[in-house]
Amino acid sequence: MSPITRTIENIDLETIVGLAKRRGFVFQASEIYGGLGSTWDFGPLGVELKRNVKDMWWKSMVRNRDDIVGLDSAILQSPEVWMASGHVENFSDPLVECGGCHRRFRADHVGEECPHCGESKFSEPRQFNLLFKTFMGPVEDDAAVVYLRPETAQGIFINFDNVQTTTRKRIPFGIAQIGKSFRNEVTPGNFIFRTREFEQMEMEFFCKPGSDEEWHRYWIEFSDNWFKKFGIRGEKLRVREHEADELPHYSKGSADIEYEFPWGWGELETISNRTDFDLKAHIERSGRDLSFFDDAAKERFVPYVVEPAMGADRSALAFMADAYDEEGEGKEKRTVLHFHPDIAPVAVAVLPLSRNEKLVPKAREVYDLVRANFNAQFDDTQSIGRRYRRQDEIGTPLCVTVDFKTIEEDNAVTIRDRDTMVQVRVPIDGLKAALEDQLEKLREACRG
Ligand code: GAP
Repeated sequence: MSPITRTIENIDLETIVGLAKRRGFVFQASEIYGGLGSTWDFGPLGVELKRNVKDMWWKSMVRNRDDIVGLDSAILQSPEVWMASGHVENFSDPLVECGGCHRRFRADHVGEECPHCGESKFSEPRQFNLLFKTFMGPVEDDAAVVYLRPETAQGIFINFDNVQTTTRKRIPFGIAQIGKSFRNEVTPGNFIFRTREFEQMEMEFFCKPGSDEEWHRYWIEFSDNWFKKFGIRGEKLRVREHEADELPHYSKGSADIEYEFPWGWGELETISNRTDFDLKAHIERSGRDLSFFDDAAKERFVPYVVEPAMGADRSALAFMADAYDEEGEGKEKRTVLHFHPDIAPVAVAVLPLSRNEKLVPKAREVYDLVRANFNAQFDDTQSIGRRYRRQDEIGTPLCVTVDFKTIEEDNAVTIRDRDTMVQVRVPIDGLKAALEDQLEKLREACRG
């Protein structure tokens, strides 16, 4: 199968937002109350898309490897964690206030003029801490303050000893975690790209000091390849090393994997060399020994950490934007999302040719067979042509159609390919194998 090409090179954000809402990928959160700034709800297709992104990451990181294990730590942690990690003191962005309308912006996100009122006078930048605060228990005083985690990573550091001793993993090894993080961003925006509540996929890879630079390079390459493997076009991705003045407070070196979004290049993932910064900080504050004893070399050391940290919501947006295309003219025009089969919210749609009373039960039988092995959808509304278009628009790779010949003659069905629109007829007995075969070919064709 030849690689999939696009007619449209760059799609605008409004088109993606419109499709996302129309087809139930993403809705504005609290919409019936007018919405709540930059919060979004994932609808039936969006939740499948994001779940696939997270599942593929988990599989690549944890299930398919012997040197990484998983964790699901609490969102609410002791405030000591965030004092030790430096987030209470250092996790801030420079904020400026417009002299005209008094709106506030992140200093490095605003140009010469206020985007709201056009005024060009701003206050001096001051540091604004991004941690979300709340209270634990019934008393709302300083002693009860806790923070919503701004990264999942600290839950991993404070469990380093628990995980290492229970799994008996030797260094180098990693701990992966997927979960919600919260940041009181000054200027959220660009749809689900920058929000105040989001999901991260993070892995802390513990290694011997001195081997960290090599592991850093390894994880940068791994991350870049991961996006390509699941269909993001190589020319829309780039690796960008951080300048010294943009490094996070814990990092000795960081590189971003960036995607060319409709508004320009934006970060999908940061791979940082966190050295022994975090483990040492927790050793000092908690008094617990978080070092590692290497039996072979008979030496004890505090491991260095290399961290690939990816956003699930942003990645889902990149997968949508990258898959988007419009093809054909007039009546033949169609919108199609060229999703990789493991990322597509629906892998196979089963469609009776019409709502005929004999066809529908047969199609339901086929649907039961298909959904036992694939993420499937059944659709018997509207004309078959419109249903194909609807499936193209949500990126379903294959449609299985049950027609009169199926029940009257050959007990076979047609499989239609989303990208080529070519249809092949296969016996129901061999349907599972035929679908697997076609999806495998499509995986190859999608490689970016
Ligand atoms: N533990 C390291 C860390 O959190 P980061 O670069 O601040 O590093 C990692 O965040 C990833 O999390 C980012 O590359 C991005 O994909 C995602 N992310 C960060 N802030 C976000 C936000 N406000 N909205 C959506 N995703 C965000």
